[in-house]
Amino acid sequence: MTFTRAATSTTPLLMDVDTGIDDSLALIYLLASEDAEILGISCTAGNVPARQVGINNLAWLELCGRSGIEVALGAEVPLLAPLMTTEETHGPQGIGYAELPAPQSKFSTRHATQLWIETARARPGEVTGLITGPLTNLALAIKLEPELPHLLKRIVVMGGAFNHPGNTTPCSEWNVAVDPEAAKLVFDAFSGLPPERQPVICPLDVTETIVMTPQHLARLAEAAGSSPIELPGPDDAKGLRSQTSNPLVRQLIDAVRFYFEFHAEHEQGYISHLHDPFAAAVALSPGIAETREATVDVELTGTLSRGATIADWHGLWGRPSNAQIVTRTDPEAFFNELIRRVGDFARHILAE
Ligand code: RIB
Ligand code: CA
Repeated sequence: MTFTRAATSTTPLLMDVDTGIDDSLALIYLLASEDAEILGISCTAGNVPARQVGINNLAWLELCGRSGIEVALGAEVPLLAPLMTTEETHGPQGIGYAELPAPQSKFSTRHATQLWIETARARPGEVTGLITGPLTNLALAIKLEPELPHLLKRIVVMGGAFNHPGNTTPCSEWNVAVDPEAAKLVFDAFSGLPPERQPVICPLDVTETIVMTPQHLARLAEAAGSSPIELPGPDDAKGLRSQTSNPLVRQLIDAVRFYFEFHAEHEQGYISHLHDPFAAAVALSPGIAETREATVDVELTGTLSRGATIADWHGLWGRPSNAQIVTRTDPEAFFNELIRRVGDFARHILAE
């Protein structure tokens, strides 16, 4: 499992996010990656409402000196389901305890579906879509441009749970649970593509092995040359703010502390599952993940099972495959790379 190094080649990426604490870390990871070319960010309602998702992305981009990246607002509600958000998980604004200055830059004049379609048409076969939120915008874009799966190089999706419990209902994962109809439409649209063009799905089965601890944050601060080196802990006052010197590390610690507290309050320990940054790393370096081909579909009508992602590993449905499901990775190799990239990047963020 190897991470692609910078400067050899870059991956043109379109992000579709519901920022969110881990979506924030995914964005920072990509901004810190010289092998990532972020073509735009599509904002979907999910963890928080779509407009707040957009504000969060504009604000992180300004903090990191990358305000030129296009941020397009998309669907405010799912295709059919009533909108549900989860401020209790990600904080009232979706970035935990981080407090970013209100952004000066503006949203794109394009709708997120236009961003998807026009970006893919402009660079046919080159663009990787990275979806770390509900699939509403991509589904709407496919409805407008059915050729989109063939125009994209591929998509990487953080979502679903296969041989693993859900995190939103007992059998459904958040990004799919928010908009099951969208997820089904997207997976169906990739049916029959060759394996190398099929969606790479990063399900909870693997993303819940990407366990960030306070020690990882301390290592990140050290890599960024930030001081003091802080070690957040469950005995800290709730909402304690970081005093470390580096502005990006400080905001990331404040964001992740909220996530530590949430996971601890839900009997998962004082840790954070870094679902989205892992999917971002897979988008740049597919070789870090082992995958298995399957036909994936989404339960829409189950009384208890709506939003469940089902994988047919053995062709029992007699349908063509449509997904490469990540089954294994090396979490510590991922954290070593995240700390290396983001630590180096943070060193160059000018003090506020
Ligand atoms: O289930 C985890 C996913 O749902 C992550 O993308 C998190 O940000 C939320 O969107
Ligand atoms: Ca997300």
